[in-house]
Amino acid sequence: MSCHKNVYITTPIYYVNDIAHIGHAYTTIIADTLARYSRMSGLDTFFLTGTDEHGQKIEESAKAKGKSTQAYADEISATFKNLWDDFHISYDKFIRTTDKDHKIGVQKAFSVMHDNGDIYKDVYKGHYCISCETFFPKTQLVDDEFCPECGKSTVIVEEESYFFKLSKYQDKLLEWYHNNPDCILPKSKRNEVIRFVESGLDDLSITRTSFDWGVKLPENFNDPKHVMYVWLDALMNYVTALGYGTDEKNMRYWPARIHLIGKDILRFHAIYWPAFLMSLGLPLPKHIAAHGWWTRDGEKMSKSKGNAVNPREVANAYGLDNFRYFLLREVPFGGDGDFSQKALIDRINSDLGNDLGNLLNRLIGMSEKYFEGNVDCINVNKFYRAELDEVEASIEKLEPMLFEMQIHRYLEELWRPLSVANKAIDRYQPWTLMKEGKEEEVMALNGLIAVILAKVATMLYPIMPEISAKIAGALHFQISHASWNHLIKEKNMLDPFKLEKIPPLFPRIEEPLLAQSEPGNKKPETKTAKKEEQKNTGVALIGIDQFFQASLKVGTVIEAEEVPKSSKLLLLQVDIGEENPRQVVAGIKEWYSAEDILGTQVCMVANLKPAKLMGLKSEGMLLAAKDSEGLSLIRPEKPKTAGTPIG
Ligand code: MSP
Repeated sequence: MSCHKNVYITTPIYYVNDIAHIGHAYTTIIADTLARYSRMSGLDTFFLTGTDEHGQKIEESAKAKGKSTQAYADEISATFKNLWDDFHISYDKFIRTTDKDHKIGVQKAFSVMHDNGDIYKDVYKGHYCISCETFFPKTQLVDDEFCPECGKSTVIVEEESYFFKLSKYQDKLLEWYHNNPDCILPKSKRNEVIRFVESGLDDLSITRTSFDWGVKLPENFNDPKHVMYVWLDALMNYVTALGYGTDEKNMRYWPARIHLIGKDILRFHAIYWPAFLMSLGLPLPKHIAAHGWWTRDGEKMSKSKGNAVNPREVANAYGLDNFRYFLLREVPFGGDGDFSQKALIDRINSDLGNDLGNLLNRLIGMSEKYFEGNVDCINVNKFYRAELDEVEASIEKLEPMLFEMQIHRYLEELWRPLSVANKAIDRYQPWTLMKEGKEEEVMALNGLIAVILAKVATMLYPIMPEISAKIAGALHFQISHASWNHLIKEKNMLDPFKLEKIPPLFPRIEEPLLAQSEPGNKKPETKTAKKEEQKNTGVALIGIDQFFQASLKVGTVIEAEEVPKSSKLLLLQVDIGEENPRQVVAGIKEWYSAEDILGTQVCMVANLKPAKLMGLKSEGMLLAAKDSEGLSLIRPEKPKTAGTPIG
């Protein structure tokens, strides 16, 4: 890696239609790990993350929540930024596609591509999946209608559109894949891309007229009804963040050393993005690395199942660094991974507690007992050369593994020195050596363990920054470029020091710390598991994201009448700030007459699927509380504008 002076690392920019889950945290933590290592090794590093805020999907999500699109995007974007800040993610820039500079950059790119003869206007007709923001040819649809990626229904879109001449770049792309065997990682994924491109590329529709939440075309196109296709807009973030089209001083970081992405968005990054860059005359990224998919307790995570793993909850319960370690150690990069509390607990108790934490405890114990906490590495080479060589051989292998996205192997290899140290204690038995009066050998053994811990802590720092800093603190040094140089590059020892006693780093975890899933329970979302959970906690716990799936609104009852032949139902028309009032059939007649409720305010669930009661359509449900004394509607304490969201 030393041949690249500038290192630019990116995550995908996340859609603001939902809060972050484990998949987002995974990508971001890998990128953070690479950025931290890169900085520690002295390279000029720029790490970018952010949010992807345009497009029909976001517009619709905002509408469903009764919010303005910008306000909604601001809110969710902030939840991502706050999470990364709380997770101490070391990003250099958090970009939002609603940033002015970004929009200017995208418009500039559009003009440049157009001037280079790569954009033309035509009519598009095709099947569009709003959820994936992607067109699919009919041949790829499931049952002629459903999206092959997410399974949702597609819509037929016919509209005037600008097209990008993607087909023109087919051969150049193939040439790039062939000449750069590791441009796509893992390498197996490259073959998939090559096969796809070889099967032929159609030109790409890159503007839309059916909605307007997006970047407009440059003014000189005089075509205000068009907005840019969200993927053109989004991909451009990787260069607009460096100032493309505005203040270009950070463009020196381009091309990206690595774009980290999930496997589902490989096509956009490995085909569209390099083609756009070729059209813009910009160099292509060095690597596009696609990771696999996380499931939970063996099941796909989804909004509807409400089983997404909330990274904040996991980190709060188990410790941020432990969570980071688990994510990076558990699955080979590119493969799919399963999150379960059992697997996480096993990693913490075994790898972290037994192998790493205990080694530090053993060192603290021995140096206290025999040397009042003093440690000296002076004779390590004399007595333990073989062990030290083994350790250095492992450490040397590490760095390339990181940037080849072999992080699980990096961690596996990093654990070898720990096992060398643990075995050395068992083999040389310091307590026997002490009895034999071989103090010098015991001090050297302690020195060996200390230097191993110091090297491991340094190389573990990118993955577990806080824990590593604590270990380094106990060993009286600070992790920095200088200590990396000293301990790793130049393979030096530690200067003599007095060991700091610190509390155990990984107290043993005996049982799951989160209510949602139990160890060994493969399907926490089954009815039995749900019941178990309710038994334990008194109530089924949901995440804030699940709560926000319900759209709750204040409404004003503008018409009320009795439903003929029904002793329970009233038929209401409720104004919730939409063009037409909602019709609600409410089972409240025993407690409220039509006159009672007319003109009053109610709180209502506004995104329930419509139902029919006594043959009448009901498009919402009123919130009410019922106890032995009867039913009472829940109303705002003070009058609120009809349609005001609750939450
Ligand atoms: N906005 C686009 C990316 C534009 S980049 C120019 C997008 N956003 S996303 O929020 O839907 O997804 C962001 C990332 O999360 C993707 O890399 C995706 O692969 C990843 N994941 C989404 N669900 C995931 C899992 N269950 N597991 C692992 N990663 C997952 O796509």
